[in-house]
Amino acid sequence: MIIISNQEIASDIYELTLQGELACLIKEAGQFINILISDKLFLRRPFSICAVNKSQKQLAILYQVVGEGTKILASKKAGDKIDVFGPLGKGFPLIDNVQEVLLVGGGIGVAPLYELAKQLHKRNVKVNTVLGFASKAKVVYESEFQRYGEVYIATIDGSYGFRGNVIELIETKKISFKLIYSCGPKAMLKALQEKYQHIKGYVSIEERMACGIGACYGCSCKPKDMSLPNFRVCKDGPVFELNEVII
Ligand SMILES: Cc1cc2nc3c(=O)[nH]c(=O)nc-3n(C[C@H](O)[C@H](O)[C@H](O)COP(=O)(O)OP(=O)(O)OC[C@H]3O[C@@H](n4cnc5c(N)ncnc54)[C@H](O)[C@@H]3O)c2cc1C
Ligand code: FES
Repeated sequence: MIIISNQEIASDIYELTLQGELACLIKEAGQFINILISDKLFLRRPFSICAVNKSQKQLAILYQVVGEGTKILASKKAGDKIDVFGPLGKGFPLIDNVQEVLLVGGGIGVAPLYELAKQLHKRNVKVNTVLGFASKAKVVYESEFQRYGEVYIATIDGSYGFRGNVIELIETKKISFKLIYSCGPKAMLKALQEKYQHIKGYVSIEERMACGIGACYGCSCKPKDMSLPNFRVCKDGPVFELNEVII
């Protein structure tokens, strides 16, 4: 794919827009791409697809600089070509006859929820979004999510929005919901799973990956139903039913 833009939108968080035929193959919000960032790095790096524009053959990802690969990615410029494999994995299912949903994103985990918000809005579903970040410097996509519904922001240090975590925000603001979609750090997903056991929901989870296509079992996670074989996050997920997996 060709890089259209690659810009820092918050502290160490970048938005990368890519163009190529691959964008037209995306089926669901929540799928991911696997990027070969440099010949020096053997493994591709997985990133959730954040936004899709099929008419322009474009997609966007949001990434946080955490290590060697993402550091190199941040140095790429518009016009550079990049080796992208995908789209991969199963995304968020859209459920019929649902009028209102809650999206809960934590940190860089807000990325796949953005395309989902867009698709839900198109289906006239009321979208409420709760986004949690460490601090104000890490807040991204608040105004983008506001295009599709009400947005609540929580920061752990209280430097922006509600002080506390996303669950404390949901409880304090008494946000009611019957269907939840979420992506974020494992501790947040685990807490949501424990708190909302009886509510229907879907979570996108991350594991370190190698092949990205279900061949190596490097990304396996355990189902709650012990009679089932382990899931491969790259192929059976990354989106699972909220209470289907052990997080
Ligand atoms: C399905 C999926 C979707 C993802 N979507 C996004 C996204 O939209 N935006 C984003 O910024 N990141 C996303 N990630 C995580 C991203 O793949 C890693 O941050 C990236 O591979 C790090 O590469 P690196 O070379 O910079 O870091 P490395 O040098 O490889 O690692 C740096 C640090 O990050 C940790 N790390 C690396 N990969 C993962 C991982 N998969 N899960 C948890 N910790 C990891 C390492 O343990 C280490 O502490 C996703 C991961 C998966 C599996
Ligand atoms: S990364 Fe190889 S099976 Fe998932």
